[in-house]
Amino acid sequence: MSSTAHLPLHQRFPRDFTWGVATSAFQIEGAATADGKGESIWDRFCRQPGAIADGSNGDIACDHYHRLEGDLDLIASLGVNAYRFSVSWPRVQALGSGAWNEAGLAFYDRLVDGLLQRGLQPHLTLNHWDLPQALQDQGGWAHRDTVHRFVDYALQMQRRLGDRLQTMTTHNEPWVVAVLGHEQGIFAPGLKRRATAVQVSHHLLLSHGLALQALRAEGAKAALGIVLNLAHIEPATASAADRRAAQADDARNRRWYTDPLFKGQYPEEVLAELGADAPAMQPGDLAAIATPIDFLGVNYYTRGVSSAGVPFDPAQSGLPLTDMGWEVYPRGLTELLITLHREYRLPPTYITENGAAFADAPVDGRVHDAERTEYIRSHIAAVADALDLGVPMAGYMVWSLMDNFEWSSGYAKRFGIVHVDYATQRRTPKDSARWYREFLGRCRPSA
Ligand code: FCB
Repeated sequence: MSSTAHLPLHQRFPRDFTWGVATSAFQIEGAATADGKGESIWDRFCRQPGAIADGSNGDIACDHYHRLEGDLDLIASLGVNAYRFSVSWPRVQALGSGAWNEAGLAFYDRLVDGLLQRGLQPHLTLNHWDLPQALQDQGGWAHRDTVHRFVDYALQMQRRLGDRLQTMTTHNEPWVVAVLGHEQGIFAPGLKRRATAVQVSHHLLLSHGLALQALRAEGAKAALGIVLNLAHIEPATASAADRRAAQADDARNRRWYTDPLFKGQYPEEVLAELGADAPAMQPGDLAAIATPIDFLGVNYYTRGVSSAGVPFDPAQSGLPLTDMGWEVYPRGLTELLITLHREYRLPPTYITENGAAFADAPVDGRVHDAERTEYIRSHIAAVADALDLGVPMAGYMVWSLMDNFEWSSGYAKRFGIVHVDYATQRRTPKDSARWYREFLGRCRPSA
């Protein structure tokens, strides 16, 4: 393996590398009750007083549902060759079981065809968190029956769109759904019980594995995989106690997902720590979870720092911070990818999300977001370093195409490389979008 670090950044990637931008349905679509769409757990959660920092919701968001054609043109104008989006399950099946909603399915048909017409690869995610509320009313992801509802949904989307997709992802960031949604209660559905969160994580992984088996049995054409939020975790100091804390956090937050997916087992030390909160499993569950994936998606934003004593404060580290208070730490991405490849021999791997929130506003029609541009540039370089070291990197996608509903932060945090004025729905490409377009033009001079 030879280093390409001396080359200009664009020369460090193969010509067929996938370059994209990413979004999710709830964060951009709006049209919360249009054309037969059912209620999602996020529609419900936003109405809980205090749940969303600015008291907002996803009712209108970026109004993408009504602005599809213009937004597809916007994506194409960035010079990317791929777009990662998610399907709103309650838009295509209002109750999460029973009747399919033709209007909702037709929207995603138009989306996929519109991408292909513009020469863009469609990368579809089935579950980016907006579970039908009707399923939550029956226990949601904590209830084993939801696993089978999800497999039905996956099959329906494959029948409808599968022949035209590049990749199909089962779940986006199961850790977030389990822990933030069911243990910390700061994301939908807002529950606060560790045992429930652990059971949810198991059902998410199980539904992923069973969906892959069912999709392949029906002749899946798209590459199938899962997207995990992963951080490179470091000890706050070199002390033995901090190193142990880092290992424990890594096992709970990363290996709890990657070990079952790649090795068919949960980490023993986490099971021991969970005791009676360990998940209820049935024979065959772990083998199903370990069904081979065609690709792994990694969402990376920052590192984790573990301490046995006073919790680490990113503000004290001296590294630049984003508007989320997250450290800018590109080297962690290379380290993470190397660790994963060493432990599991990775399949083709995409960075399915990477980006940064900064408070920015247009001035005379321009948004000078130099910090975001540098964030993206330095993380792309970190991916090139991983490629140099033999990690099978297949693509990189910026989070996000445009400013959008940032979950419990509402509209206050802006991750887009395109600015959105929510009063007018005007889209303004930021300087980071201009940089990305120029960079991609150099990557593929003939494109
Ligand atoms: C990830 C989510 C994505 C977005 C970014 C900032 O955890 O997958 O929807 O909110 O964080």
